[in-house]
Amino acid sequence: MDLMQQIIERAKQNKRRIVLPEGDEPRTLEAANHVLKESIADLILIGDPMVIKKMAAEKGFEHIEKAVIFNPETDPKMEQYANLLYELRKAKGMTEEQAKDLAKNPLYTGCLMIKSGDADGELAGARNTTGNTLRPAFQIIKTKPGISVVSGALLMFTPAKHLGEDGLLVFADCAVNPCPTAAELAQIAVSTADTARKICGYEPRVAMLSFSSKGSAKHELVDKVVEATKLAKEMAPDLMLDGELQADASLIPSVGQSKAPGSPVAGKANVLVFPDLQAGNIGYKLVERFSGAAAVGPILQGIAAPVNDLSRGCCVDDIIKMIAITANQAM
Ligand code: ACO
Repeated sequence: MDLMQQIIERAKQNKRRIVLPEGDEPRTLEAANHVLKESIADLILIGDPMVIKKMAAEKGFEHIEKAVIFNPETDPKMEQYANLLYELRKAKGMTEEQAKDLAKNPLYTGCLMIKSGDADGELAGARNTTGNTLRPAFQIIKTKPGISVVSGALLMFTPAKHLGEDGLLVFADCAVNPCPTAAELAQIAVSTADTARKICGYEPRVAMLSFSSKGSAKHELVDKVVEATKLAKEMAPDLMLDGELQADASLIPSVGQSKAPGSPVAGKANVLVFPDLQAGNIGYKLVERFSGAAAVGPILQGIAAPVNDLSRGCCVDDIIKMIAITANQAM
């Protein structure tokens, strides 16, 4: 069974409540119908029930009737959610009136449901930008203990079976932090190792990427990766992690041996941590397009409860996979 199928099976065995704030978005609704038909997760669709039910009837999405449809304009729970938002944000200057209005924004409603224990995870972004999807999650759900930075990992299913874990690698941060500090990069590395372990089920071997391998170049950007490597080792002493390493030294055994002899990771990395978002985002898209790899994600990590962001160019299948991944993260 391939990994995506295993993730879907795990979701079926441990049903979680996933909230979809874009309940009337056509691809989201089609994915929801499939998820409910296959019993992959319980779903809460946010939106106007009349609109959602009409769309579902027109498309023949008969399983949508199993979803809970939550209307933020009329539901009595909204008072509780608005109060919660006010309490969380009043120190930042939010008024009760503003909280009441903002809580009705489905992206805020979804996060408030999670914070209140009424949902286990959220997936959005088919219609909204990354910033608009993530901001409520940062403000309401916040980070896991010991982590101050949320980041985004991609599962890269590449055809290069000799690399990573039978062709599978986890790349990060490819989605969130434009310019992480050394301390943030260290957290991103530890969070990504956790994602590899929990979602992919393998023991991570983490390479901290740079344009230098073990001092071959001198530059302040290299110093940052060296410092991040040191901090990550302090955070997770048992983790197989090494840096700074070039991409070839990380992946190819002969290059790893010559550029970083004795490294526990060089030549066999299955997790690649990029030094910043420019490198990470460009890097994963190049691998995807040149090698025909399937890139699944971004999977948000370091957040206290799972919230994931879709690309606005996503297809129905992407949404189904991300619902299953969100459910796995919620276990
Ligand atoms: N982790 C945890 N909390 C964060 C993070 C983070 N990475 N970034 C911001 N926050 C928190 C802030 O501390 C702040 O909290 P507070 O209000 O309680 O003090 C809150 O979030 C808002 O912070 P801002 O700095 O105002 O955040 P902003 O909304 O400006 O930016 C954002 C956050 C949108 C994620 C920004 O970092 C961004 O645009 N990143 C790039 C996203 C992107 O375009 N990615 C590429 C596309 S995705 C893809 O191709 C797969």
